[in-house]
Formats: sequence, structure tokens, C-alpha cells
Amino acid sequence: MQKQREHWSSHIGFILAAAGSAIGLGTLWKFPYVTGENGGGLFVIMYILCTFFIGIPVFIAELILGRRAQRGAVGIFEKLTPDSTFWKSAGWLGVISSFLIMSYYSVVAGWGLNYVFMSLNQFYLNRTPEQISASFDILANAGDITLFWHFMFTAITVAVVYPGIRHGIEYWSKFMTSGLVVLLVGLAMYSLTLDGFGDALRFLLYPDFDEFKPSAALEALGLSFFTLSLGQGIMLTYGSYMRRNEDIPKTSGIIGIMIIVISLLAGIMIFPIIFSFGFAPQGGPGLVFKTLPVLFAKLPGALLISTLFFTLLVFTALTSSIALVEVIVANFMDLMEWSRKKAVLTAGIAVFIFGIPSALSNSDILFSKWHELYGKTFFATIDDIVSIWLLPTGGLMISIYTGWIFEKEKSREEFNFGTSLKCLWRPWLFFVRWVAPAAIMVIMLQKSGLIDVDKIFHGRVLY
Ligand code: PHE
Repeated sequence: MQKQREHWSSHIGFILAAAGSAIGLGTLWKFPYVTGENGGGLFVIMYILCTFFIGIPVFIAELILGRRAQRGAVGIFEKLTPDSTFWKSAGWLGVISSFLIMSYYSVVAGWGLNYVFMSLNQFYLNRTPEQISASFDILANAGDITLFWHFMFTAITVAVVYPGIRHGIEYWSKFMTSGLVVLLVGLAMYSLTLDGFGDALRFLLYPDFDEFKPSAALEALGLSFFTLSLGQGIMLTYGSYMRRNEDIPKTSGIIGIMIIVISLLAGIMIFPIIFSFGFAPQGGPGLVFKTLPVLFAKLPGALLISTLFFTLLVFTALTSSIALVEVIVANFMDLMEWSRKKAVLTAGIAVFIFGIPSALSNSDILFSKWHELYGKTFFATIDDIVSIWLLPTGGLMISIYTGWIFEKEKSREEFNFGTSLKCLWRPWLFFVRWVAPAAIMVIMLQKSGLIDVDKIFHGRVLY
């Protein structure tokens, strides 16, 4: 007999848990460096537009499907369209994406853990900004240390997921997300006083159309999917824990806006440091670790602030990694009838093992061969596979499924339960049917090299 599914204990509990899953390394770690690499202002605007017009509609779609079916990502399609194996594969794709993301996510979060201890040791004392910044490379090149923290972070995630959603996810999200926002606002305000603030603001907000690269629009879309935790079954699974009286459209809007605000705060915090101390915006995946400690070193109470920041970074990564592991676990439990214990432990061990090459990708001789062969570290290769192929494919399938396969009546009914924004159903359906699939297809064709949007645009529009 099917057990009664667990539900969120309160409305705010759900918002915080969903926000906790969404807000994570994507906003604090990925947004700043991808923005730096893509030239700033215009990219930021595109990211915001993508989040509003594609991300949020797909976010709503995932919650609706999940709540309707009351199952994990794979089971949803099995229940809603029982005789189609094709759609079931969309659910599996989500599980695979979550697994792959988790494998390198815990490496980055592991660096964060190491920075907590480095902060306690005040590693920035008596060092020049260059030296502080270079500490990151030393860490990333130390395979054994990175591996150790990768293990620790995976183990912590497993320990939190183990007791089940209510006691695990909800409990943690409440404190961490609010604490993080407060600290970010404070740090961003301090950054306002740095000399480089004007340049940073210009870089972040001024759209430089001469620099316009359509492929950056596509990157922005991928980032928006990543930060909203879309295309991988997370929100499908979270939706399945929602009650009928929850307001899906409003909740989704709130979370979308939170994501944008926190990304911008992270940008406002980091870019003034870059411009004040002469770093390059294109600092790559180490950007946040390389820049912030330079700011902390100048602050009174550096020890406290630096330790607090990296602790919160780790916690916010944890509320996301919990979600990633939860997707894997929910599906194992639904489909293989595994116990929670068995599912959580299996997922944890598998994630740790698969993450080893990512943890060692900067240091190990074996994996430097990988670099030679593919021109990218193992870490970056997995990140690419997920962001270029898997997330967009997942998002595409979700939007096509919701827009075209899922019965209109059911979608209207589910959208309308618990919301006062019933008038938004039609516009939402339009975005899910047309805008999202078209935009996602363009991203994939561009990335696969089948079409070159940069060339098309430059040829026809700009010259
Ligand atoms: N959205 C999370 C972040 O921004 C990453 C994530 C992706 C978490 C997918 C869960 C699922 O860090």
C-alpha cells in the first residue's frame, strides 16, 4: 500500500525550502563569474529577462505537474501518461542531472568549507591582495585537501537528508536563507564605499550594445535554469510535497524575484572589489573565493565576517545539495521501493565516487590527460554537459509536456487551486507552449554548433 506522502508543514516552510534549494552556489558562485566572463550589463539584463519570461513559467509548470501527480520526477510521468516510456525518460534525465550537478557542486561547497577554516586562521593577515587571491589556486591545486572536503560536504548532506523533508530541509532553510540575505545586504553596502564602486555599477548595469553577443543570451538562459533549479526534477519533486491550497504562481514569482535580488547583491558585493584592486572580471570559477577575502581583510571584525560569510555560503550550498540528493532519493524510493535509509546512503556513496575526478581535476596527473584531450578540466566538462545539454533538454521536455501533452483542463485546475492570480493562467500557458520551447531550442542548436547565432545576428542586424 502506498504510504501517505509527506507534506510541507506550512506555507512559509515551502517557500523557504524552495528558495533554499534555488538560492545556492548558482547565485553566489556561478552568477558573478559567468557575468564577469560575459561582459556584464547586457548579460545581467538578459539573465533577468530569461528568469522572468522563461524560468518562472517553467518553474510553475514543474510545481503543477508535481502537485498533480504526487510523485517523484520519474513517477510523475508514469502516473500522468502511463503508456509512454519517452516521458518517463524526462524524469530520469532529471535524476541524472541532479546526480551530476551534485558531484561537482560538493567540490565547490567543499572549497567553501575549507575557507571557513582558513578564515578562522585569518589567512589574509599580512598578505597583499594578490597573495590573498592566489590562496584559492593553492587550494584548488591540492587534490587531497579538495577531496577531503568533497567527502565532508557529501557526508553532511547525507546526514541532513536522512531524517526526511520536514525535519531536514525545512528546518535548516529557515535560518540559513534569512541569515545569508542579511549578511549580503551588509556586505553589499560596504562595497558601496569602495573606490571601484562606480566602475562596478557601470559594468553590472550598463548594457554595452557594442559588446552584444547573442550567445551570451543563451548562457543567461542556462544560468537562469541553474539558479532556479529547473530542468532536473527538483521542483517536480518539491511540487509533489505541496498541498492544494498553496499558491503556485505567487510562490514562483516570489522565488524568481528573490533569486534575481540575491544574484545582484552578490554582484554588487564582488565587482567593486574587482575594480578597486585591479583584478580581472574573468576570474573563472574561483572568482568569489579570490575576491571576497580581499574585502574582508580590510574590514574591522574580519575574522567574524569572513567566517560567517563562508559558513553561510556552505549552508546555502547545503540547502541546495539537500534538494539535489532529495530528487535522487525520492525516485529510488518511489520506483524501487527502497527504504529511505538505503536510498540516501546509496545516493551519497555514488555521488562521492563520481565526484572524485572533479575534485582531483586540477591536480592529478591522470586527469590532466583529460584536460589535454578535451581542452577542459573534468570538473568543467561535467558542468558543461549539465548546463549545455541536460538542463535545457529537461526544461524543454517539461515545457512541451506541460504545454502540449498535459490536458489543458487539468493544468487550468491545478494552476488555479489556491491562487488569486487565476487570470495569469492563459499568459502562462502561452509562455510554456511557445516562448520557452522556442528559446530553449535555440540555445541547444547554438551550443551544438548547428547554428551560429552570433554570426546570424552580426551579419543581419549589427552591420
Ligand atoms: N539552484 C541551485 C543554485 O543556484 C543549484 C541547484 C540546481 C540546486 C539544481 C538544486 C537543484 O545553487
